[in-house]
This record gives sequence, structure tokens and C-alpha cells, in this order.
Amino acid sequence: SPSDPDLVERARAAKAKLGDKVFVLGHHYQRDEVIQFADVTGDSFKLARDAAARPEAEYIVFCGVHFMAESADILTSDDQKVVLPDLAAGCSMADMATAEQVAECWDVLTEAGVAEQVVPVSYMNSSADIKAFTGKHGGLICTSSNAKRALDWAFEQGEKVLFLPDQHLGRNTAVRDMGMSLEDCVVYNPHKPGGGVTVEQLRAAKMILWRGHCSVHGRFSLDSVNDVRARIPGVNVLVHPECKHEVVAAADHVGSTEYIIRTLEAAPAGSKWAIGTELNLVRRLANRFASEGKEVVFLDKTVCFCSTMNRIDLPHLVWTLESLAEGTLVNRIEVDKETEAFAKLALERMLALP
Ligand code: 13P
Ligand code: SF4
Repeated sequence: SPSDPDLVERARAAKAKLGDKVFVLGHHYQRDEVIQFADVTGDSFKLARDAAARPEAEYIVFCGVHFMAESADILTSDDQKVVLPDLAAGCSMADMATAEQVAECWDVLTEAGVAEQVVPVSYMNSSADIKAFTGKHGGLICTSSNAKRALDWAFEQGEKVLFLPDQHLGRNTAVRDMGMSLEDCVVYNPHKPGGGVTVEQLRAAKMILWRGHCSVHGRFSLDSVNDVRARIPGVNVLVHPECKHEVVAAADHVGSTEYIIRTLEAAPAGSKWAIGTELNLVRRLANRFASEGKEVVFLDKTVCFCSTMNRIDLPHLVWTLESLAEGTLVNRIEVDKETEAFAKLALERMLALP
């Protein structure tokens, strides 16, 4: 939908007034009306790095979701303030692993006698508490763009990985990129006693996958892939690794949002693409590449936004920028010092990956 011209003007004026004091980051899943004000756009990895590379900005306005803003706070200095324009912009996947549940899981692994062999690897899409747990137990963070390198590192430190909280990214990376089989993976269900797994299964597994998922990417199915191939002959199917294993196995290309964009940039004119990821991004890409003669469609027939990403809209952004311009700090995201220290360890291990 076109942006309200009055709000656009107000956002522009407030941002101009703030000047270099503010730096606006925009994740690729953000609405067009918000993305137009981003100083930089990116996937989760790029945005974490970019936030850390702006020490002169007093305010980092993060147009994305809560775990991204927390990560930015962890990676920036204490006097920089990270702001999330709507505090209700969470992530249902990140909410699927709580600190209590993960502590309980570690007890289960300890009782099974495997904890000493386990290195935790946590997806960026997790709370600061989970990142701190990961750092404390010798593990690291990964994103969808470096999951293989993170797992390579983890398997140099130990024999098993506890992968949190996205079972799909964990399984897809293990099977597609690391040469493991589905039998090397076991799923730990935090809602069942003992995780719903036996001691034997835990001892045999290389990958212990937390039972979490993304509800947006979970909507794509093998039928979505088969249908689009029937509907558009010669179509290339390009999906995000948060999709189910059967979808990833049937796709032609798999990667992060940044990878999806780069792949389309490099694609020849006349090529056709079905994209399995969030809709704001797919629509933007469809519009952008139509003029180059590249056809880009959404992988599924029914459309789906990430509802929490969409909470950041132009009215929230205007309110945030105008408040900051008037000297009122709103919606600050601040991780406590102890959590931050261990979470930072886990994030820095990721940033140091080759
Ligand atoms: P990337 O942008 O890192 O691919 O992550 C996708 C996502 O789901 C963020 O929530
Ligand atoms: Fe979370 Fe999925 Fe939305 Fe990403 S797309 S923020 S993983 S719910």
C-alpha cells in the first residue's frame, strides 16, 4: 500500500533533525513504507555486523524483531541505545525456547551422560538468555547465512550439537551441507518429559534438534513446490532454510534472505523464480526484477506475511523518530550485563568464523 504522504514527510523531517545521531537498520522482511527510511538493509548476519560498525550513532533504530534488537544491543557499546519501534515485534520461533526449558534440557543431557560431548549452536532467532546459555557452554550463534561454518566449528569442539531453536535450519544444514543423514538427527521436545527421547537416541545422535520452527516458513509444503512447477514450466524454486526438510530437498536453491536477493541479481533475463520466504520481501523483489524481465512469484498460492515483522509500520517509525528528535528515549532494548557478557561470547565466536 502507498505510504501516507504526511507520515512520510514527518519521518523525513525527524530523521533529518537527528542527523548522524540516528542509524536505522531494516531487515529484508520489513514493509516498503519502513524500508524506505533504512540506512542499511540486510539479513540477520549483515545487520548484526552493521550495528556493531556504527559507534558514532547514539541511537540505533532497529526495524526488525526483538531478538535482532537484543543482538544489536549486545554488540554495541553501553552508551549507544538500541530502539525497537514496536515492543510487540517478537518472533514466535524465538519464543519456543525459554531459559527454563533449555536448562531442563541440559539436565536431561547430563543425566544421559552426553552433555560433555555436546556443543550448543543457537540460531540468531533466539532470546539473549538462550544466547548466554550457548556462550556459557562453549557454543556459538549462527544465522541462516553461516550455519554450515558454525556447525563445522562446533564439531571441531565436540562430538554432538544441540541446535536451538529451529529444527529445520539444523536438520537442513546437517543433511544438505554436512553429509549427515536424517537418522543422525533426533528431535528434543521441550513439552514432553525427558524431551520425548530415549537415552539411547541421545547417545546415538549427532544433532539434537530443538523442536522449534517458523510458522511463516512452515506454511510451504511439498505441494507448494509441485504446484508451482506444474503452473510455471522451467521455474527455479528458491527457498529459505527455515522451510521444512522436504521443501528444501525439492528446491533448486536454498539460502538466507541476502542470498535470495544476490541469486536473483545474478539470474539471467527471462528466468522464472518461485520464492519460499516472507511476502514483503518477495513482493519487493517481484517489482524490482519485473523491469529486467525476471519473473518472481511467491512459492505458495495463499500469501503470508510475518505478522510480528509487520508490526513495525510507518506510524510506529514516525512516533519513534519524532520522540528521539525531541530528546525522549522510547522503546529501548537493553540486555542485562551478566546475560550480555555470555551472549556476546557466543556472538563473537560467530563473527570470528572464517
Ligand atoms: P535471514 O534474514 O538471516 O535469512 O533470516 C530470516 C528470518 O527469519 C529472520 O527472522
Ligand atoms: Fe520469526 Fe519466522 Fe518471523 Fe523470522 S519470519 S521473525 S523466524 S516468525
